[in-house]
Amino acid sequence: MKLLLPTEFAPDLEPKLSQLDPDLQVAWVDINGKFEGDPSDAEVYLNWFYLKPDLLQQVLAAAPQIRWHQTPSAGVNHILTPTYLERDIMLTNGAGTFAIPIAEFVLTYILFHAKTIPQLLELQASHTWKRSIQLPLQEVWGKTLLILGAGSIGQEIAKRASAFGMHVWGSRRHPQPTPGFERIVGTDEWRSLLPEADYVVLATPLTPETRNLIDATALQAMRPSAYLINIARGAVVDEAALITALKEGWIAGAGLDTFHTEPLPHESPFWSLPNVFVTPHCSGFSARIAERTIALFLDNLIRYQSSQPLRNVVDKTAGY
Ligand SMILES: NC(=O)c1ccc[n+]([C@@H]2O[C@H](COP(=O)([O-])OP(=O)(O)OC[C@H]3O[C@@H](n4cnc5c(N)ncnc54)[C@H](OP(=O)(O)O)[C@@H]3O)[C@@H](O)[C@H]2O)c1
Repeated sequence: MKLLLPTEFAPDLEPKLSQLDPDLQVAWVDINGKFEGDPSDAEVYLNWFYLKPDLLQQVLAAAPQIRWHQTPSAGVNHILTPTYLERDIMLTNGAGTFAIPIAEFVLTYILFHAKTIPQLLELQASHTWKRSIQLPLQEVWGKTLLILGAGSIGQEIAKRASAFGMHVWGSRRHPQPTPGFERIVGTDEWRSLLPEADYVVLATPLTPETRNLIDATALQAMRPSAYLINIARGAVVDEAALITALKEGWIAGAGLDTFHTEPLPHESPFWSLPNVFVTPHCSGFSARIAERTIALFLDNLIRYQSSQPLRNVVDKTAGY
């Protein structure tokens, strides 16, 4: 069997693969789509990041025998193009790989807002000593956190928020009791929880069902003191409605890691709104991601070779 693997992983993967099965053949592809070895008879493809849709098409055209594709990303909306869907390829994603760093980041956004970090940084910059009583400092203890999408990321967030004494509610497509959540609702009920939430976190995949999930109606249903956090995908939010909501005080603020257009255009109002914390789609990254991706791939490779079900198989119809 031949594997098509990212050149960046060669030093890590080569010794592990020869230990696993010395008969495995490998072709390599770099981030520009340049091959080392012949990809035409490769059956398994692992890509690394920076996978632009046209580059993916180029790689897949050169590798017509691919049957299983492991992608490192948890979201696969950028992969499931009509051309990709024409091919009979089993796609597995990286759900779980990013849950810990993102959950840590979500707590960062929450504390950034509750502990007035922007104001404190301004005070420090102007050498001003202002007693805490004059700042709108809040506790997160006892506050309600609503997480839309109670999957691997949602559950890691829930664990940490519970440890801070927050009430954690969530929504998922297949509602069921979920560790860390006091309450879980389905896709038709989450809107009724918005008026009670202090923090709302978006952790769903981007699918036809979740595109513009947070629209003007949802934003108007939120409390003026509520804070929105989007670590999912930009298109889960109606950005024009969000800009209005932030300017007109429908909500108190937002921590945004993902945007409709990335990189976020220089002229985007999000950069300069005083109640927005912008991060450059980095909440999922840490020094541990490559090692987790390789471990997931090798575990799935063993399963693939022994015809066992793979982890993280994407339901292409549902889009995640
Ligand atoms: N910012 C970043 O760098 C970054 C990094 C990684 C991932 N992400 C984004 O985060 C998403 C989630 O990742 P994950 O690892 O948590 O994936 P996951 O483990 O597959 O979880 C996805 C969750 O979303 C739920 N869901 C699907 N459609 C929904 C809907 N319409 N309403 C409410 N919940 C819905 C699913 O419900 P069921 O379980 O009931 O089916 C599942 O619980 C990814 O798809 C990606 O877009 C962003």
